Amino acid sequence: MNMIVAADKNWGIGKGGSLLVSIPADMKLFRSQTEGKVVVMGRRTLESLPGGLPLKGRTNIVLTSNPSYKAPGAVICHDQESLLKEIKKYPPEDVYCIGGESLYRMLLPYTDTVHVTRIDFAFQADRYFPDLDGHPDFIMTAESEEHTYFDLEYQFVRYERKTPACV
Ligand SMILES: NC(=O)c1ccc[n+]([C@@H]2O[C@H](COP(=O)([O-])OP(=O)(O)OC[C@H]3O[C@@H](n4cnc5c(N)ncnc54)[C@H](OP(=O)(O)O)[C@@H]3O)[C@@H](O)[C@H]2O)c1
Repeated sequence: MNMIVAADKNWGIGKGGSLLVSIPADMKLFRSQTEGKVVVMGRRTLESLPGGLPLKGRTNIVLTSNPSYKAPGAVICHDQESLLKEIKKYPPEDVYCIGGESLYRMLLPYTDTVHVTRIDFAFQADRYFPDLDGHPDFIMTAESEEHTYFDLEYQFVRYERKTPACV
């Protein structure tokens, strides 16, 4: 499985139910990487998407504990076990966990590759991705040149698992 995330200097990823910042080139890369693939998300992340709707052109899998939750066109799972069972129906390289914090933390042990847009700024945040620089199981394997969006500098960085993922 893959993860895709935009994280700041402190691995902050969100505040008040929203992203910290929206960088057009990052959004474009997100679209092209996940197009035609399977995206896995928590209920709060779904509700933060435009119109609170599943992403078009992708298979959407949403985790919620609410047994009557409806999201048109999305597959809904209600616990970790059924989520993992659902994810296993697809080739691991086609599955992208797109957040938020609770899903990233839950699914990291099952993840081989993490695509990070790393923003060189410390925002006020209330949601975080696990620190992969200090993580014993992950290593950085690719790093783009620096890009800028107004006064923000950011890079596209890839981390890969050093140890076998849980299956
Ligand atoms: N920077 C980025 O790349 C990025 C990407 C995605 C999201 N974000 C940000 O991250 C924040 C959202 O993250 P979050 O951690 O608050 O929410 P989340 O992970 O998107 O969703 C949390 C919800 O998932 C459901 N859930 C989680 N674990 C579950 C379990 N074991 N069983 C059943 N349901 C479970 C629950 O839904 P119910 O409450 O319905 O039961 C829970 O409230 C937002 O600020 C968002 O903008 C950032």
